[in-house]
Amino acid sequence: MKITFYGHSCFGIEYNGVRLLFDPFITPNELAKDIDINTLRPDFILVSHGHSDHVADVETISRASNATIVAAYEIASYYGAKGLNYHPMNIGGSWDFGKFRVKATNAVHSSVLPDGTYAGNPMGFIISGGPQTFYYSGDTALTMDMQLIGQKNKIDVAFLCIGDNFTMGIEDAVSAAGLVRCDTIVGMHFDTFPFITINHERAQKAFAEAGKQLILPSIGTTFEL
Ligand code: NI
Ligand code: MN
Repeated sequence: MKITFYGHSCFGIEYNGVRLLFDPFITPNELAKDIDINTLRPDFILVSHGHSDHVADVETISRASNATIVAAYEIASYYGAKGLNYHPMNIGGSWDFGKFRVKATNAVHSSVLPDGTYAGNPMGFIISGGPQTFYYSGDTALTMDMQLIGQKNKIDVAFLCIGDNFTMGIEDAVSAAGLVRCDTIVGMHFDTFPFITINHERAQKAFAEAGKQLILPSIGTTFEL
């Protein structure tokens, strides 16, 4: 799969012939100022929860691309009421979109939309159906529920929050990688704000010591996994 990092927790992923976009927070992100959201034409936008650093550009990009918004029922129907395409889900459920399958996983965090609208529960996603299966954690604490993800799936790549303070930090992300039984980790939710600035060297060392590869991509770069 071909992955482009748009900053914070936002990734564009070409998966089995479909363009997926996760948690678009680009225009308010000073670090991502070189990304032009008008060039993004995803087929689906997956939204882990309602916080502004995950939904800021959902409406604009969905309107321009007709992308279907896949999110918790409360978030999906919020955008549906604005005339956008949506597919509502909830934790524990899965759906076959044809070229890919989504399972909504538990995330231990909070969730509300920027205008105060109740956003249901935060979630992560397991994407399967293509040659690889990957896990996108969303914003979450380390939780024993991740053990089930590792038991029931062969996770080839895991996108894990790593910035601490609001989510897992480095050590907990290493533990999460162990629970989901994945050796190839893409870090997210780091360095965007002072509260989540991480020491890259320390992070790389912690994952290497656990026998795992950590990728901390630069914004705007595309790579293949
Ligand atoms: Ni959040
Ligand atoms: Mn966040």
